[in-house]
Formats: sequence, C-alpha cells, structure tokens
Amino acid sequence: MKEQLEQIKLSAIGSIEKADTLSQLEELRVQYLGKKGELTLVLRNMKDLSAEERPIVGQLANIVREDIEKRLVLKKGLLESSEQNQKLQEETIDITMPGKGLSYGHMHPLEQTLEEIQRIFLGMGYEIIDGREVETAYYNFDALNLGEDHPARDEQDTFYITNDIVLRTATSPVQVHTMETQELPIRMIAPGRVYRSDEVDATHSPVFHQIEGLVIDKNITFGDLKGVLAEFAKALFGDKVEVKFRPHYFPFTEPSAEADVSCVMCGGSGCNVCKGTGWIEVLGCGMVHPKVLEMAGIDPNVYSGFAFGMGLERLTMLKYNINDLRLFYENDIRFLSQF
Ligand code: DAH
Repeated sequence: MKEQLEQIKLSAIGSIEKADTLSQLEELRVQYLGKKGELTLVLRNMKDLSAEERPIVGQLANIVREDIEKRLVLKKGLLESSEQNQKLQEETIDITMPGKGLSYGHMHPLEQTLEEIQRIFLGMGYEIIDGREVETAYYNFDALNLGEDHPARDEQDTFYITNDIVLRTATSPVQVHTMETQELPIRMIAPGRVYRSDEVDATHSPVFHQIEGLVIDKNITFGDLKGVLAEFAKALFGDKVEVKFRPHYFPFTEPSAEADVSCVMCGGSGCNVCKGTGWIEVLGCGMVHPKVLEMAGIDPNVYSGFAFGMGLERLTMLKYNINDLRLFYENDIRFLSQF
C-alpha cells in the first residue's frame, strides 16, 4: 500500500505540473482527492490492513493528501496570475498606434496613408501644422500671387461664403500663415481638408484632402526639393520607385514642376492605371515665388525655399490600388474592413 501511495503522489505531481488551465486542475483534484478519488479509495481499503500497519499507512496517506493539496493551491495561484496577465495584455491599448488599439481594429485608408506620410516627414525633421478651412480671399488667392483675374478665383471652382471669405481650395494658404508667424527656418507639412465645387465622380469630390509642404531657409535650391521629394516617394511607394520632374506653372512658385512617379502598378512598362505612359502624376511643387515670400514679410534676397502640394486621396488610391474615390466616403464596412 505504501508503494501505491507513493505512485499516486508521483502521478499527481506530474499531472499538476502539466495542467495549464484552472478547469484541468479542478479535474485533477477530483481525480485524486474527490469522494471516489484515487487517494480516497486507498484509505477505504485500509480496513484490510493489520492494526500495526494501519496508523503508519494512515499517516503516510495524510502526508500525500496534504502534499497534493499544497501543489494544487500553488498551481492555481500561478495559473490565475498568468490568466490575469493575459487579460491585462489584451486590454492594453498601444497609444502610439491610434486606431489599431480599438476593438474594431481597422483604420480608414486615408488615415493610414496620412499617418505614413506624416511619419516620413517627421523623420526628416518637419513640423506638422494645422490650418484653417475657412479662409479670406487674401490668404487663399492674393497672398499666393493669384491675381484678380486668375481662373481659380472663378465661382465655378470656389465655394464663396461672402465676397471675401471662402472655403479654402488648397492647403497652400497655410504656407502664408506659417511664413507670417513662425520663426525661420521653416520646415513643415500641413495636411487638411480642401473644397472645390466639382461634380462627384470616380476621381473628383467637392471635399478632399491635401498635404502642403514648405521649407524656407538660406541657400535652399531646387536640388533640395528634388532630393526631399524623391526620398519621400521611395519611402511611401518603395525603393524601386523613380521620380521625374516636369516643368509646369503655378502662380506661387517659380520655377514650378509637377512630379511623376514610375507607375506603382506596372513598374513603368505601361498599364491602364498609368494609361500606358509608365508614369503617374502625384504632386505639384516649385521654388517659392519671391513675391510670395515678400508679401509674407520674408526677404527673398536672403531666404529661399520650396513648396509642394499633393492629394491624399490620389496617393491612397495608388498605394492600395483603389479605382474609385467615392469608396473613401461611403463608409461601406465591406470596403473599410479591408484595411
Ligand atoms: N496648390 C496646388 C493645387 O491645389 C498644389 C501645389 C502645387 C502646392 C505647387 C504647392 C506647390 O505648394 O508648390 O493644385
């Protein structure tokens, strides 16, 4: 009987060690110590023992029972604390990842691209600046060298609140506020909503988002502009992406350019996304016009700078191969849950 007790003890120790849930532990308690448990059965059979043997085996059985009970309690404590840890971990929100910590777990694709763009520019030492969506005509047009007769001032494109107050048609006015109020040098991006009175279709919406960029310092050249934007495009679309600059016209920059990236779908060989050209236009840019610097109170003989503006919807469509911009605003869960 002594051997039997010894065996029960060994097998109980082994099973308790292996148990990894509280319910397994409860099963083991019943198996060894329950009314019909292994140890109980041994004690029941004690009546067959001699009067001398009985107290010895009884004492041993008590020791084994206490030992098993102690191990059960210890293991229960261990399992409970690890269960608690797991729960805590599940309930922990990573505040460095907005959106991801939420139980829903998805982040709007525009938000994802914006976060990525912000991270890229923060990494290059840029500040993120908030602008205003309601602007005076001065900041939206005049201060950006868009004269009285510029076509963009036409009511067809602009939502006018009064003759002098508009919903901004681009994030470019943030350039002017920043130059007027911030100390030099300036290195900033300004993301935000912009408004144009366009019809809704697969590539147009009256409300969309742009990201403006502005760098002002001594000795800033077009070479700096090209370097920064090429680095940016590679960071967003991958190392293989090539960037080319085409001469263009914007009233607030001189010289001005549009930047194209090699088609992110076909790699440049030509497909329906790039309309067979191998290139996709992604942003406008240029050296800040001396008149714009001057109007904002910066001496163009001492300082120079570059600016750029890009559309968040367009970049996101390219990044995720989305062919209709309306999907961003419809909040269809079948679309959103893919991100
Ligand atoms: N404001 C322009 C637009 O809405 C984009 C743009 C082009 C911004 C060139 C810039 C720039 O800062 O330098 O189409």
